[in-house]
Amino acid sequence: MRRIRIYKGILATIVFTLISTSGHAITSATKSNIKEWNMLSKQQMREEMSLKLIAPGIWRLRFGKPDKFTPMRLSPSKPNEKGLADVPPCAKPPFPLSGVQVFANGHGCCVEIPMTDKERIYGFGINSVLFNMNDRHVFIRASDSPENDLNDSHAAIPFYLSNNGYGVFVDTARYATFYTGNASPRGREAEVKEGFAKTMVADVPEAKGVDIYIIGGPTMMDAVRRYNLLSGGGCLPPLWGLGVEYRCSADFDASQALALAKSFRDQKIPCDVWGLEPGWQSHAYSCSFMWNKVKYPDPQSFINSMHSMGYRLSLWEHAFTDPSSPLYPKLENHSANFKVWGGLVPDFASKEARTIFGDYHRKTFVNEGVDTFKLDECDNQPDSYKPWSFPECSSFPSGIDGEAMHNLFGELYQRAILYAFKKNNLRTFGLVRSSGALASSLPFAIYSDSYNHQDYVRALAKCGFGGLLWTPEVRDASSVEDLYRRIETVILSPQALINCWYMKNPPWLQINREKSNQDILMSDHEEVTAGVRKLLQLRMSLIPYLYSAFAAYHYEGIPPFRAVVMDYPNDPNTWELDNQFMVGPSLMAAPLFTGEKSRQVYLPKGVWYDFWTHERYEGGQSIEVAEPLDRIPLFVKNDSLLPMAEPVESVQSDTCFQITVNVFGNHPSPFTLYEDDGVTNDYLKGDQNKIVLRWENGNGSFTRTGDYKGPTRYAIGKWVEAGN
Ligand code: GAL
Repeated sequence: MRRIRIYKGILATIVFTLISTSGHAITSATKSNIKEWNMLSKQQMREEMSLKLIAPGIWRLRFGKPDKFTPMRLSPSKPNEKGLADVPPCAKPPFPLSGVQVFANGHGCCVEIPMTDKERIYGFGINSVLFNMNDRHVFIRASDSPENDLNDSHAAIPFYLSNNGYGVFVDTARYATFYTGNASPRGREAEVKEGFAKTMVADVPEAKGVDIYIIGGPTMMDAVRRYNLLSGGGCLPPLWGLGVEYRCSADFDASQALALAKSFRDQKIPCDVWGLEPGWQSHAYSCSFMWNKVKYPDPQSFINSMHSMGYRLSLWEHAFTDPSSPLYPKLENHSANFKVWGGLVPDFASKEARTIFGDYHRKTFVNEGVDTFKLDECDNQPDSYKPWSFPECSSFPSGIDGEAMHNLFGELYQRAILYAFKKNNLRTFGLVRSSGALASSLPFAIYSDSYNHQDYVRALAKCGFGGLLWTPEVRDASSVEDLYRRIETVILSPQALINCWYMKNPPWLQINREKSNQDILMSDHEEVTAGVRKLLQLRMSLIPYLYSAFAAYHYEGIPPFRAVVMDYPNDPNTWELDNQFMVGPSLMAAPLFTGEKSRQVYLPKGVWYDFWTHERYEGGQSIEVAEPLDRIPLFVKNDSLLPMAEPVESVQSDTCFQITVNVFGNHPSPFTLYEDDGVTNDYLKGDQNKIVLRWENGNGSFTRTGDYKGPTRYAIGKWVEAGN
């Protein structure tokens, strides 16, 4: 067996050597491969391994001839160079690159990366039961069931973070396996001597080569920022996307949907986005992408009526295209050799298929006023004996196969839909059931049919490790308490989604699915409605704060929702903390789960304030917290300015948020409110303002700078000394 190894620290000239080891069993397949290697000339060998500095702090190691279909190769997003230049410097690779070894055999490519003994590994996407990713088999495989111990999930990505302050992205769409410190390759004595007692092994099947991106820190946060900026920067949703989304029963017709939407306005339930589920289409499994004219006889007037009530409209769909669809003939030559539910599987790896699909959506829906989509069923069901998606052996005209397509499908689908909005200079914020690597710029939140509240919170903490957004959507509930606790979590997540696709009435009128569908309402529904309204209003109050957090995601790569360990990597008490999460720069949420009267909340070192009572706590300790049904344990970091808006029922193009600035601590850092038109992409041309809030010597002031000249978004009113 021969290995290729990179010598230490040399960036410009790459030197490598071949080292014989006897550490790996050689199958006949590998023997023939080795023969191939032996036939390479020295010059060719040099070309097999190269090292390139992609951006400050990001090194790419290329081995052999990488696959054609990988997240990086298919991503049209350009790295955000300005943002990358502003991340704290990282001049040296986080570990000696000489320790990275790659070899190919009949199985594929094997990558070995040195790890220290005590190192902790996070990431690999948003499987909802795993947090600490050490010493495991980690599969990179799209699946609709995120609660398994193999790492399958709606977004399984070949990117991990280490608390030694770096990240590694292996650019593959294959069902790769990572052995996260538990494999014992032989012949690594040199690395062990240097303190690298463990090895991360990435097994990339089929590949004849692979690109490995080593992303420096010095902290995990810096590494994630680099990863997000390399992916183009985080998405900036339209302002309305940060409001509440309600998806009504799939059985509804236009008049039922309009009646319920109107009742929300009458009841003053905040709601920005109204979602229609499969019933809006003439054929849904597979999709016709045409209105069901029995249920929705006049789609344009339906859309207009929703808009006139201040709603944005979201349409459910999946990509499998029904023979009755006008898209079918256009896609026939751009689809897989297998069908799903009788529909074509579009070859989204081809730009042509994406354009056909996106253009159809633009002309048919976006031009008519549809504001966003829910992209369903784009994951897979690899572990079921009765899978519903296309087989791994599928072929597509572009040359991609079914396996790689599964890991890329959700992401490419989002790009096809995004094309429809970009063409019209509009932003969108949708839902998707599968995403992937380098996807931070895609404005979609991931959702699931799974429904364990604890798992939902863990996924929320995890999504920030890999440029993903997750919504712990609320459907029915086991009790009123369960409903409150779930709503408390969802309003502090990327997308405040109430998904009632199988319920006639909203859960605050009836938590039970069957009773809801029989129109049997709870006796205390008025009281529950009032409590839920208050919680949804809290979400609306936080929109300016969240919008600024998303601007930081876009420009600086800082994940708006993230695990506490990302902010406090040196505090061992945060290392396993998977039931608390950070929201924006200064809030930390610690959801209560049904059945819990109180819970332990860990406050990292420093001073913290209770969001509700403003009580001051010294950090570095766990405290027992109890909250009434309609309050989530929420804490504000010391020395923070927290802008809170008067809640509106929905965000309109002329909405101006009335802001109260809450001052926590005696020397708060300035807070930058981000302002633009909130709906178009003109911010990319510079149409934006920064409103910097400052508190000095007991006085609040602000400055507004920038080129955005449209309606003012924020009126800065009171300053309140909330905690000191
Ligand atoms: C599921 C999806 C649900 C709902 C349902 C409608 O696949 O996860 O949220 O949309 O389809 O059939």
